[in-house]
Amino acid sequence: MTSVLVLFHSVTGSTYRLAEAIAAGIDSVDDCQANLRRVPKIGGSEVIFGGNDMAEPRAQFEHVPVAKIEDLITHDALAIGTPVYFGAQSSALRYFLDQAGKYWMEGTLTGKPATAFAGAGSGAGREAALMSLWSTFAVFGLTIVPLGTRAQNVTPADQVTGTTPFGAATISGGNGKRPSDAELAAARIQGQALAEIMLKLKVD
Ligand SMILES: Cc1cc2nc3c(=O)[nH]c(=O)nc-3n(C[C@H](O)[C@H](O)[C@H](O)COP(=O)(O)O)c2cc1C
Repeated sequence: MTSVLVLFHSVTGSTYRLAEAIAAGIDSVDDCQANLRRVPKIGGSEVIFGGNDMAEPRAQFEHVPVAKIEDLITHDALAIGTPVYFGAQSSALRYFLDQAGKYWMEGTLTGKPATAFAGAGSGAGREAALMSLWSTFAVFGLTIVPLGTRAQNVTPADQVTGTTPFGAATISGGNGKRPSDAELAAARIQGQALAEIMLKLKVD
């Protein structure tokens, strides 16, 4: 059995729901298992968001185990999701990844397939946020897996979705109703693609 880390940061839940869909896509591939993990809380938007207490939305994913930095090396592939904060990855995810300096120095992550996804509010800057993760993936030597056009049949042009060729995303609007079915379908396809590519790249 090969395992894929589905690592996410989420406060209001939209990135978490994309993470679940990515995990379902991974689990749909024979001999592949997704392990969901959330990054540790560091404060800021975790506690207060626009003046609102975040305890209630957080409750939906507090059962997910908290990630350890070693999870990056004990899994065969990585799917990493972030909320879009000011057009970039969140500081909680950044803080977590900044602890991987040893793996960067030793080249431990080189070649491992990785993919990125994001939860946005209006959608502004979501591709830049995904690419902020891609920059980190490149420095780690990870093999970047884009969504590309794989999801075009599930994201009709007459529907507004957050989906991008860089990775699945949602335009959550902050009302708890998104991701939409189309956005979730795209995330599932991305998870499946990551798992299939991981199996092709495995030499043993
Ligand atoms: C500090 C901060 C900055 C944000 N910046 C953006 C942004 O640049 N673009 C955007 O579309 N949404 C932005 N948002 C909204 C979040 O991306 C949105 O609420 C998203 O659903 C968060 O993901 P989550 O539901 O997984 O917590 C921002 C939210 C916060 C708290």
